[in-house]
Amino acid sequence: MKYFTTTSKASRRAVDCVIVGIYERSKLGAGAADIDAASGGAMKRYIKSGDISGKLGESAVLTNVAGVRAPRVVVVGLGKSGDFGVPQYRRAILAGLQSISKTRSQQVLNCLTLENVSDADAYYLARYTAQAVGDMLYRFTEMKSGRKEPGMPLKQIGLAIAKRGDAARSMRGAEHGVAIASGMSLAKDLGNLPANVCTPSYLARTAQKLAREHKNLQTRVLNEAEMKRLGMHSLLSVTAGTKEPARLIVMQYKGKAGKAPVVLVGKGVTFDSGGISLKPGPGMDEMKYDMCGAASVIGAISAIAKLKLPINVNVVVPAVENLPSGKATRPGDIVKSMSGKTIEILNTDAEGRLILCDALTYSRRFKPDTIIDVATLTGACVIALGHHRTAVMSSNDKLAAEIVAAGIASDDRGWHMPLSDEYTSQLDSNFADLANVGGRDGGSITAGCFLGEFTDGMNWAHLDIAGTAWTSGKSKGATGRPVPMLTEILLARAGALP
Ligand code: BES
Ligand code: MN
Ligand code: ZN
Repeated sequence: MKYFTTTSKASRRAVDCVIVGIYERSKLGAGAADIDAASGGAMKRYIKSGDISGKLGESAVLTNVAGVRAPRVVVVGLGKSGDFGVPQYRRAILAGLQSISKTRSQQVLNCLTLENVSDADAYYLARYTAQAVGDMLYRFTEMKSGRKEPGMPLKQIGLAIAKRGDAARSMRGAEHGVAIASGMSLAKDLGNLPANVCTPSYLARTAQKLAREHKNLQTRVLNEAEMKRLGMHSLLSVTAGTKEPARLIVMQYKGKAGKAPVVLVGKGVTFDSGGISLKPGPGMDEMKYDMCGAASVIGAISAIAKLKLPINVNVVVPAVENLPSGKATRPGDIVKSMSGKTIEILNTDAEGRLILCDALTYSRRFKPDTIIDVATLTGACVIALGHHRTAVMSSNDKLAAEIVAAGIASDDRGWHMPLSDEYTSQLDSNFADLANVGGRDGGSITAGCFLGEFTDGMNWAHLDIAGTAWTSGKSKGATGRPVPMLTEILLARAGALP
């Protein structure tokens, strides 16, 4: 996809299609106003016909509007004119693209970037546009046989800007948006692939392939014997029941010599049956998504590598499958983690924390400036926050605030949840240093506290993405979140935001 910016008027540009917006109560957006003037009132007449009211998310295609060079005008509803913020912009542009997908347009001029969007400038509007285009074009057809349906023929997208001075910001936004969209698309693919294809070894091969594609990116993969030598018995206890070999995937992106890295740790459980503490049958297929933490950190580092940002980023992915068998770990078993702490495994379904604690300990060798783990860790997180916000926990309120702010800027939102000793005491064990579960109450927080026991002295945050990483129901699928949030943090730290 190619992006360009232009100050030309909606009616004057000879593209296949222009997108313009109208607010409720017949208020025309900038592009619509221009088209209305050029066509002798076509927009106002269309609104009068009653076919469109300006409600957010509405859209329609008008063809051959008099006085307009483009043969198609896609009109989208922008909602109430006082309420047009970032989420509304994203809804509107998606609705516009949806209409365009029913046409054979190759070149499109998006005039919605001319609107006043609260808290967003030309850079962010361009970025959200590129991301929305990525979402729109994404298809997961790898596992379907037969002839593939042709995709959209879209080739070029113009971003309307009010003044020449916005061009550089807008183009930078498009470039970053394209990189984020490609990171999300990779994360979605990995999430959507079934567990019989996307195994720990498959994740490792994907990481190795990325390293071959990007000069500044290296990948190392550790096998079970190497993990055993490191003392990662907590991680290895999760893989005991499966025949799929576990992997520890380590990626390093070097963009700035001599600077302490940001380390991203992603939960890579390629299938979570619960183990001996077996999950109920209905919906268990969705546990193929239990590696979306891994997918998102791999997606984020690939976006960073693509943009060649001046920053150092490492990714550590503990990749395992959690199955029951005669060799599986039992409830009540006690294992020694790489840190030396012993863990009583009261529930083999609380496996994410068991692999993450060893990955966090392993990550100390990189002397991270900041370490962030990302995991589909608890069902309790879905109960607490639903599907819209990622839970953000941290030992450092400033880091949590940085992450929440990055979530707002990238429209991939999080919510700060507490961590404290009162919760940690729910993990007391009669027999070991700590138990791997802390009861139903505050289940996401006690999971965070468990990880906190392994991050002493590190600048650490934990993201629980159990609710945000995928959509259930009819349009089931991976969302690619929180790639935008993670990339935003890294863009900001690299000084790459305009
Ligand atoms: N992968 C699950 C968490 C999960 C559940 C994510 C549902 C998305 C949707 C995790 O490994 C798990 O099973 N957690 C348990 C923890 C419990 C045993 C303390 C849970 O949430 O039930
Ligand atoms: Mn589990
Ligand atoms: Zn799990």
